[in-house]
Amino acid sequence: MAKINIKIEGIPYQVEAGSTVLEAARACGYEIPSLCAYNHGECNRGSCRVCLVEVVGARGLVASCVYPVNEGMEIIISSPKATAARRASVELLLSNHSMKCQQCDKNEKCELLHVAKLTGAREDMFLGEQTPTTYDNVTPAIVRDTSKCVLCGRCVARCANAHGDGVLTFQNRGFKTIIGPAQNRTFDKSPCIMCGQCITVCPTGALMEKNDIAKVDAAMAAGKYVVVQTAPAVRAALGEEFGMKIGTPVTGKMVAALRRLGFKKVFDTNYAADLTIMEEATELLSRIKNGGKLPMITSCSPGWVNYAEIRYNGLLDHLSSCKSPHEMMGAILKHYWAAKVGIDPKDLFVVSAMPCSSKKYEAQRDELKTRGLADVDAVLTTRELGKLIRRSGINFAKLPDEEFDNDIVGEYTGAGVIFGVTGGVMEAALRTAAFVLTGKEHEGVKFEEVRGFDGIKEASFDLAGMTVNVAVAHGMKNAKVLLDEIEAGTSKYHFIEIMGCPGGCINGGGQPYVRECFLPNEDPDIVDTYRAKRAQALYSEDERQTLRQSHNNPQIKALYDEFLGEPNSHLAHELLHTHYNVRTPFPELD
Ligand code: SF4
Ligand code: SF4
Ligand code: SF4
Ligand code: FES
Repeated sequence: MAKINIKIEGIPYQVEAGSTVLEAARACGYEIPSLCAYNHGECNRGSCRVCLVEVVGARGLVASCVYPVNEGMEIIISSPKATAARRASVELLLSNHSMKCQQCDKNEKCELLHVAKLTGAREDMFLGEQTPTTYDNVTPAIVRDTSKCVLCGRCVARCANAHGDGVLTFQNRGFKTIIGPAQNRTFDKSPCIMCGQCITVCPTGALMEKNDIAKVDAAMAAGKYVVVQTAPAVRAALGEEFGMKIGTPVTGKMVAALRRLGFKKVFDTNYAADLTIMEEATELLSRIKNGGKLPMITSCSPGWVNYAEIRYNGLLDHLSSCKSPHEMMGAILKHYWAAKVGIDPKDLFVVSAMPCSSKKYEAQRDELKTRGLADVDAVLTTRELGKLIRRSGINFAKLPDEEFDNDIVGEYTGAGVIFGVTGGVMEAALRTAAFVLTGKEHEGVKFEEVRGFDGIKEASFDLAGMTVNVAVAHGMKNAKVLLDEIEAGTSKYHFIEIMGCPGGCINGGGQPYVRECFLPNEDPDIVDTYRAKRAQALYSEDERQTLRQSHNNPQIKALYDEFLGEPNSHLAHELLHTHYNVRTPFPELD
């Protein structure tokens, strides 16, 4: 990229041509407050005016997030005029804000509070009438509180990118403007898939996951036997909640923290990821051999399942009938493990620590109950887990590394670990498919073609003489391309992996917020690189495992030998498989 010469506060710098004043100033080590600008122009409305600076020769102050640098430009951030204007912009936002910081779940990572601190803004400078607000906590996954919204538009942009069709829009005009689904509907009456991507970009507490910490507290207080399982992506990001570098794997400390929080057992969802692969690979090969519905599509991402049920419900028979790994784990814990250790399944309370807001919705579905009991009783996001650990006074960084409980259902392979990143389910399935076909190991365990963050990845593999065409998509915008091909009858694939969130679970809607302003020790390009760093934490754990194919997990073999019989058996179907329903949450719009 070509460089140009500018001055900031009278000091000469060389910066990238084409960057905005805000980006250039950040690269030179200055922090200009900002709110509406996000992620290299993903959202750049220039609306909040929190980033105003002086540019010599320009008429008035300029919004640094949209104003491009040019050769010889002189920028002044600290003049009295610019600092007063930035402060006034924040005070105007605060004047239309509920300011219930103490009760607000965002108060530890609130960007509005951060810019208020930076600018010295006071909340009581422009008191007066406030915009009528909406509070929507109807779904089990997402809460919208427009009294905390600063109308930055980040959620609108992210939802359009992640969801494809876009659920969130600006409603009304002028002073009455609010953000929400069309016609200000509640999320349950909209095509929202509860992926939580909007939550990850919201600078305030206007969009949050539903906090389920109280549910866990209540179960413990009631004397339930409370156990927890953790998804692979959680260990790749939980350290960020405690100021650790992005991509720091914290598996051992996470287990130690969960024990200190009072969970009776700490299980790894990876065990059930191996189980999912056994069931899913068997289902795929049976469909290929017996003329079943192809392409088969993975079903472990509840955001994607929601999308299929709402938007592509003519394709539901393409979805694998496998439950997602944490739901399989819940069913196995309640209907296999509990009997083994002498616990009444009704007294067992299964908590899932997940990178995902959509799993909160999934866990309460009737389709995911077995023998009258919910497979999973409560879901905490990685962020909620961080809060719970902080609340308990645990010094996370100083914890020892401890091992998961390996109690009949604890063993896992590297294949289970990589489930957390786009392409991981596909790679894990390919590692096992050849073995299921022939009883012989496939040469090598890496399938590089399905790794990385391209929107759609495709490849063909020769598995024991059978050519299998596969594709991987993450984020619904990418998935739509593959789904439209299936609808048109032109899809050439046998097997497709779809993940609701861009990048897969490592970038799930429940993962820690990635903001430069809260990560002073990270590299400046962190918004571009955090997904790769979290993914690397999982690939490294895969590399460290002795066993890297699901079918070699000895406890999974034992589960089939002594309980389930074989993959896709009648009992396996009762416990580990589900079905899907056509959903029309907005009938009057049809
Ligand atoms: S969004 Fe921020 S400023 Fe608003 S109530 Fe929550 S913590 Fe306070
Ligand atoms: S949860 Fe996902 S689909 Fe729903 S509004 Fe947010 S980004 Fe859009
Ligand atoms: S809900 Fe959050 S992200 Fe969306 S406009 Fe409001 S403050 Fe911005
Ligand atoms: S961050 Fe520049 S106008 Fe909002």
